[in-house]
Amino acid sequence: MGSLTKEHWEKVYETKSSNELSWFQSYPKTSVELISGLNLPKTAAIIDVGGGDGRLVGALLKQGFVNLHVLDISARAIERAKARLRGKADGVIWIVSDITEFSTEIRFDLWHDRAAFHFLVDETQIGKYIETANKNIREGGCLMIGAFSEKGPKRCSGLDVRRYSETAMAERLKGGFEKIRCVEEDHTTPSGACQNFLFCGFMRRGFKNGT
Ligand SMILES: C[S@@+](CC[C@H](N)C(=O)[O-])C[C@H]1O[C@@H](n2cnc3c(N)ncnc32)[C@H](O)[C@@H]1O
Repeated sequence: MGSLTKEHWEKVYETKSSNELSWFQSYPKTSVELISGLNLPKTAAIIDVGGGDGRLVGALLKQGFVNLHVLDISARAIERAKARLRGKADGVIWIVSDITEFSTEIRFDLWHDRAAFHFLVDETQIGKYIETANKNIREGGCLMIGAFSEKGPKRCSGLDVRRYSETAMAERLKGGFEKIRCVEEDHTTPSGACQNFLFCGFMRRGFKNGT
């Protein structure tokens, strides 16, 4: 996907403060509630994909999770998150990478993504993302994606996004994942606009034929 995407996001985090970012949430209530419902052990391997300078990792640290990973294409976003969390940041694995180029030996118990997946609009990129999720979520592990619903905006941060219905999301992921449930959330941006998100949880099915 390359350097243009990275440049875009580096510039965003260089020039805008948190309350100028449309996706900013002071507390990621829906994500935290959905994750709490999974009753994961505190040692669960969790990755927040496109976590940016979001508040989820801080909320999970507060709950006592000890195996947290945050991945983002923007080094500045990661630096901002680390600076904000100060000493607590040492307990997190920070990864600067484009998710479509990410490779690891880790098999995650939970893969969370709020508002990163929907920026992938090209079929090849979407395919790479799903292939990486298939490979790096353990059998029985969970994939949780929050993306703009069909009622959500068509663009965000000056970029096109792909919006999802529950059916379209499940169809995309059916090769490796079983849908658990989806919920909608109306997110109010710092400037007062309403954006409808669809959050879906999926379980990684058993590995068959290399899928
Ligand atoms: C709309 S923000 C959401 C941030 C965070 N998840 C939250 O909810 O506050 C999208 C994030 O995804 C990151 N991102 C966009 N494309 C990415 C990619 N291909 N790989 C990794 N991160 C990406 C951006 O840098 C940005 O931090």
